[in-house]
Amino acid sequence: MLASIFWGAVYPYLCLAVLLVGCLYRYAYRPLSWTSRSSQILESRWLKWGSPLFHWGILAVLAGHVLGLLVPVGMWQAVGITPALYHQGADLIGGLAGFVAWVGLDLLLLRRGIHPRLRRTSSLSDWVALGWLWLVVTSGDAITLWYNHTAGPFPYRHTVGPWFRSLFLLKPDPGLLGQLPWPFQVHLLLAFGLFAVTPFSRLVHLWSAPVAYPRRAPIQYRRRGALRPDAATAAASDLHRQPGGTRG
Ligand code: HEM
Repeated sequence: MLASIFWGAVYPYLCLAVLLVGCLYRYAYRPLSWTSRSSQILESRWLKWGSPLFHWGILAVLAGHVLGLLVPVGMWQAVGITPALYHQGADLIGGLAGFVAWVGLDLLLLRRGIHPRLRRTSSLSDWVALGWLWLVVTSGDAITLWYNHTAGPFPYRHTVGPWFRSLFLLKPDPGLLGQLPWPFQVHLLLAFGLFAVTPFSRLVHLWSAPVAYPRRAPIQYRRRGALRPDAATAAASDLHRQPGGTRG
């Protein structure tokens, strides 16, 4: 009883509090550390595949979480989506997105382990963040791709969903998690733990998604001293003719 209150009503708030306070503190007092610390300059061939696969996969997974956990079952039925149809979609689209994210994450982890320059510049927090993400994604995939197909689908939209919403309504109801199978328990504990890890790692960049990127003025990188003075003058006048100018 006490354990279920702790895991269902105390632990999630603890993790969310660490996320909120930790991120606000870091943003206010350590602004220069607020970065994803791109490692593209050290290695770009693996990154070119791993990063988009992971990021697009995980964005689709998280969109699925919003639809499956925050939108009540009644609202789906009101727009004509039956439980069977919902689960087919969740299996197919959620399963595919989860798998794509997992492949991307494996490439990112392997790349960091294999390339000596990356290994040397990786901090403990990089390994903890990537490793933790891997555990969360793998445990989620284990539910969708394995557990649901072997032990049978568990009605998480009638249990985990209302419990998740109860947290945000500040009326936590840990009783809803009473019969939760262990793969779900593991996934939930790891997922909330990831929130608590975020402020101490490069994961903070998730709050700074580059939405303004396509409209940004171009940045041109030049090797120092690579251009002869006459070529440099020609390049500079070329750049000034471009709309928006440049930033060095
Ligand atoms: C903290 C709240 C979270 C809850 C309550 C939650 C719950 C769930 C549930 C119930 C499923 C099974 C869905 C299905 O089989 O249809 C699932 C799957 C999954 N979860 Fe989570 N999750 C949470 C956070 C996260 C986070 C933060 C990540 C990754 C960063 C994640 C990654 C995944 C993946 C990859 C799957 C498998 C693919 C899918 O079905 O979408 N989850 N999660």
